[in-house]
Amino acid sequence: MLPLYIAILLLVTSIPAPLVLSQTQTYNLNTKFQGNDFFDGFRWETMDDPTHGRTNFVDQETAQNTNLSYANPAGAFMMKADNHSIVSPGPSSRGRDSIRITSYKCWGDSLIIIDLEHMPAGCATWPAFWTSSQRGPWPNGGEIDMIEGVNTNSNNLASLHTTPNCSITPNQAQKGSIVSTNCDSSVNYNQGCGVASNTPNSYGGGFNNNDGGYFATWRSPNGISMWFWPRNAPNVPPEISQGDFSGMITPANPSWGTPDSNVTFQQNCDYYSHFDCHEIIFDLTFCGDWAGSAFSAAGCGPNCEDFVNNNPEAFQEAYWEVNALRIYTPS
Ligand SMILES: *[C@@H]1O[C@H](CO)[C@@H](O)[C@H](O)[C@H]1NC(C)=O
Ligand SMILES: *[C@@H]1O[C@H](CO)[C@@H](O)[C@H](O)[C@H]1NC(C)=O
Ligand SMILES: *[C@@H]1O[C@H](CO)[C@@H](O)[C@H](O)[C@H]1NC(C)=O
Ligand SMILES: *[C@@H]1O[C@H](CO)[C@@H](O)[C@H](O)[C@H]1NC(C)=O
Repeated sequence: MLPLYIAILLLVTSIPAPLVLSQTQTYNLNTKFQGNDFFDGFRWETMDDPTHGRTNFVDQETAQNTNLSYANPAGAFMMKADNHSIVSPGPSSRGRDSIRITSYKCWGDSLIIIDLEHMPAGCATWPAFWTSSQRGPWPNGGEIDMIEGVNTNSNNLASLHTTPNCSITPNQAQKGSIVSTNCDSSVNYNQGCGVASNTPNSYGGGFNNNDGGYFATWRSPNGISMWFWPRNAPNVPPEISQGDFSGMITPANPSWGTPDSNVTFQQNCDYYSHFDCHEIIFDLTFCGDWAGSAFSAAGCGPNCEDFVNNNPEAFQEAYWEVNALRIYTPS
């Protein structure tokens, strides 16, 4: 059955088919962030990590003064964790210094393209690049996780977290594997609904050894699709790799190939009541609800928090290096 909004559009505009509708939609650059742009467009969050990590999110001034956030000489934006201090055990410290930044602006239907050189990797790490509504209380307005993983993972997990009555339809055209279909954060211990990438080097050390790559996330009432191209892949579309900031982009252009993840919203999830304007967030936490509980099984050792406190040298790969972040909106 056609989603209601497409049926209405068809009636109003007499466009012959939904396929044409989605494939000819062009998007224009709305905002880009490169190098020092991040200092103007994002705020540094200092709350206690809501996912209970062994992490001390520092403010912008501290992050700049201690070189945890800066634009490097190549123009990439760096967000790092402290890799030289021993952290006091117990409640006298919140944990290892790290970064959580949130954009001032928010976007609804959009295409988000990130050219990423390096992501945080290694035991105890739990980095994420995601979008979230600020309507509150969470998860009203939804959350879309674009890059996420823990410890020594090698495959990216893309997932959604919503209020009740939202699930994704399995068996879509996608390369990845569905991990869970119910997006409702109140069930399955907030697992959300997610698709694991089957593309090698989409996460962690393998991604970094490859000089990273490109992720594109297309959000519309049709659903949410994500693509990943390793930096050296022969088929990276030029509009993705060359960063034509003034150009128009057609999401899901046939040259993009099959998405890694492609979830559609039909009768089983009302898009408009579950997703609103989202801010973009980068963070890096340690241990906590996911990385902590998966720490031993990953072969990282017996105690995640002790590891974080006592091994600063283990966090030399714990940084984001972003070449560019571009957000496109419908023309
Ligand atoms: C930050 O980096 C600058 C330039 O490399 C250096 O001069 C300064 O000492 C560093 N500050 C800290 C606190 O490491
Ligand atoms: C911290 O990491 C940076 C690279 O991000 C490296 O240059 C530096 O030597 C590291 N410091 C220590 C004490 O490991
Ligand atoms: C979920 O859907 C059921 C059945 O349609 C409805 O009774 C319930 O009120 C909905 N809950 C929310 C939170 O929307
Ligand atoms: C996602 O899956 C739907 C349903 O199979 C399909 O119509 C759509 O073209 C797919 N989207 C992309 C971007 O491939």
